Amino acid sequence: MQQVNFGIIGLGTVGSGVFDALKLNGDLLSSRIGVRVQIGRIAVRSIKKCSSKIPRNLLTENWRELIDDQKIQIIAELVGGTTIAREIVLAALKAGKPVITANKALISAHGEELFAAAKKFGTNLYYEASVCGGIPIIKSLREGFVGNRINALYGIVNGTCNYILTRMKLEGADFAGVLADAQRLGYAETPPDLDIDGHDAAHKIGILASLAHGFWVNPKKIHVEGIRHVSALDIKFAGELGYTIKLLGIVKKCSSACRVQVSVYPTLIPNSHVLASVNYAFNAVFVHGDVVGDSLFYGRGAGKDPTASAVLSDIADAALDLKFSNKHRIPPFVPHECEGAVLPIEEVVSQYFVRLNVADKPGTLAKIAAIFGQSNIGISSVIQPEGHEGKSVPLIFMLHYATNGAVQNALKKIGKLPVVKGKPVMLRVENFEK
Ligand code: NDP
Ligand code: HSE
Repeated sequence: MQQVNFGIIGLGTVGSGVFDALKLNGDLLSSRIGVRVQIGRIAVRSIKKCSSKIPRNLLTENWRELIDDQKIQIIAELVGGTTIAREIVLAALKAGKPVITANKALISAHGEELFAAAKKFGTNLYYEASVCGGIPIIKSLREGFVGNRINALYGIVNGTCNYILTRMKLEGADFAGVLADAQRLGYAETPPDLDIDGHDAAHKIGILASLAHGFWVNPKKIHVEGIRHVSALDIKFAGELGYTIKLLGIVKKCSSACRVQVSVYPTLIPNSHVLASVNYAFNAVFVHGDVVGDSLFYGRGAGKDPTASAVLSDIADAALDLKFSNKHRIPPFVPHECEGAVLPIEEVVSQYFVRLNVADKPGTLAKIAAIFGQSNIGISSVIQPEGHEGKSVPLIFMLHYATNGAVQNALKKIGKLPVVKGKPVMLRVENFEK
């Protein structure tokens, strides 16, 4: 059997997962693809810190040795970040070696440059592990749905945030404690702000949007909100209204040609929708293709083993590339609708949940309703728990479809009313209708 040696750069959570998974299933993988796949070298930052189960003869502290080593034919970049990782990927591609990465921050920031380099040097860049860990969503969009226009894609793509929101809802757990658990379990990025501020989800949703629509989505154009401001009170009221709050990535084609909503924000999802029951570190992507209709992908989106599973699938593809001289498959990224553009958030149309803290006194509701009315924003329901006259109470509005721009403007005015205490909370509602 032909043998292919690959080099791992970075032996942290994912790198060590790949090492263990290959030990477990390397023979199986090799027999399935007809190529013996072996770890040739491993680059780490500090050999002293490495587990004793890693053979010392494989280890180096200089990643460039792997690029220069003629016996290493594939490089797996599992370091993270966008500085050294970019250097590694470019150097490996320049050397004509297929590269595998789990690094969504890197693909999001430099994907265009890296795919161009892969093309220039006649090799490939694989990134299945960069979105939704073990779910083969990249391959599904690129190959399985190659004959579809993707009209809408909704994703719960950050395991850390989903884990936090799930435990806040089901256990009434507090944010900081659950975040510490997510870090201990190896779900969170370093630093975890990338997760909880929504940027990790934006990296992933941008990659999926680029694949689905065939133009590189500039990450700066993605509207991103994280989950820091989602309170126990919002989770409770959303629940009373029949909704669950999820950090949802949305890629939705608008009626005007080639304009696509690409956004990430905490969203109220009806409890009856399948995405509402995706819990803990699980991820899910709901895709609507014009030929296939609705499809759902569900699985573990973070952690050592699921991510290793995706890296192994890329290793198999890269090994097959080498065996068949790179000519038999759809390339990892295929530009097609190059004129596409991201729809500015102000123009995105949505429904809304608004929570205000107001003085419980005559005329309060009328003043707020008047501003929504003047802004041409319809109210679909109102809840105010029984309060004590003169004291502050929460006042919840569910709003009909309106543009984000109109709602933001109305809330600015409402926030200035003397009867409104503190900043209005606004969360969008997705009913999967438009
Ligand atoms: P870790 O921080 O656990 O691992 C990164 C490893 O790279 C560390 O061991 C680090 O060493 C090492 N490293 C840093 N610089 C170098 C260098 N110059 N040469 C050799 N090794 C180096 O991160 P993860 O394994 O969690 O993540 C790796 C990548 O996978 C990231 O891009 C991440 O976004 C992505 N990813 C992670 C998932 C997860 O669930 N963890 C899921 C999907 C993708 P040291 O510890 O000494 O700094
Ligand atoms: N920090 C990421 C998450 C890891 O929580 O989803 C998987 O990409």
